[in-house]
Amino acid sequence: MNLKVLILPGDGIGVEVTREAVRVLEHVSHKYQHTLEISEALLGGAAIHQSGTPLPDKTVELALKADATLLGAVGLPEFDNVPPEKRPEKGLLGIRKALGVFANLRPVRTYSSLLESSPLKNHLIEGTDMIIVRELTGGIYYGTPRGISGEGAGTTAVNTMVYTRAEIERVARMAFRLARGRRKKLTSVDKSNVLENSQLWRKVVTEVAGEFEDVALDHLLVDNCAMQLVLNPRRFDVVLTENMFGDILSDEGAVLAGSIGMLPSASIGEQRESGAWVGLYEPVHGSAPDIAGQNKANPLGAIGSVAAMLEYSFGLKQEAEAVNRAIEFVLGQGRVTADLKPAGAPATTSEVGEAVCSAI
Ligand code: IPM
Ligand code: MG
Repeated sequence: MNLKVLILPGDGIGVEVTREAVRVLEHVSHKYQHTLEISEALLGGAAIHQSGTPLPDKTVELALKADATLLGAVGLPEFDNVPPEKRPEKGLLGIRKALGVFANLRPVRTYSSLLESSPLKNHLIEGTDMIIVRELTGGIYYGTPRGISGEGAGTTAVNTMVYTRAEIERVARMAFRLARGRRKKLTSVDKSNVLENSQLWRKVVTEVAGEFEDVALDHLLVDNCAMQLVLNPRRFDVVLTENMFGDILSDEGAVLAGSIGMLPSASIGEQRESGAWVGLYEPVHGSAPDIAGQNKANPLGAIGSVAAMLEYSFGLKQEAEAVNRAIEFVLGQGRVTADLKPAGAPATTSEVGEAVCSAI
């Protein structure tokens, strides 16, 4: 198969972790005799520096042409006090929207060799295996009106949480289909005791459940969900929620996995005529400027995102499994970066990438 992949390293540790993810992608492609056609483009702070905008047209053009896109991370401290419109993050939100990747799949699982890396008690987290399905192209991240106006004591800031029935239906169907291939349990998370937006969310998800009678649906309020995630994480199979709630809950989920550096993600859009799904793959972590450029960052979230790409965009299940098994093997060997608090000396970013390749 020919795999046409666009790489968007972005900022900070994004550059380092995508380098290892590409190394793994090259290795697995070679081993299974696929040809790789890789291109690279600018996004985020790096793009602002070179072209004055966080999402150059060229980047969108290349992403639309590629079979799949792999992204590192965006964000730089020098933009901390800049309005949202001009920030590196705007590039990330823009590319998600341009590709129409409305469903962000964030698997959260524990590995037996990493139980000690989590601050939570082993018996609570052992065996956790869930996927958070985060709506990614709507809600308060994109809603209008938005902005800051007025002055003095009357200065007013507005954001709008908005969803249409169609937006809720499509992401709900994606989540139900995933649940069908797993333990057949779907938990929809909202704040319907306060927000009209969540009332529509709950109503539509309940209706869509009618198409999936083999899947058991329950609803949780987001505050309770935040608590249940650390009290009883094994109760979750597929968690479906809107954009901002999903952003927040998935960072909490990272604590179950031992480190945010472990979490991969797949953002999926419509199915193309070829049958492949449009996909943007990125680790859940950010650009971590404090450790950028030091070869310390955990590349496993990015490498896991390569596995997700092989599975979802290319339908290469065997190859995806080979990558996931290699990750598990390397974890078992204890060859991990500092975030996972290894007993011995921590491995570097590139050592972990090399170890995953050898294990494949
Ligand atoms: C994430 C990140 C992004 C988001 C930021 C960098 C805009 O936190 O992917 O979880 O909020 O979506
Ligand atoms: Mg986040």
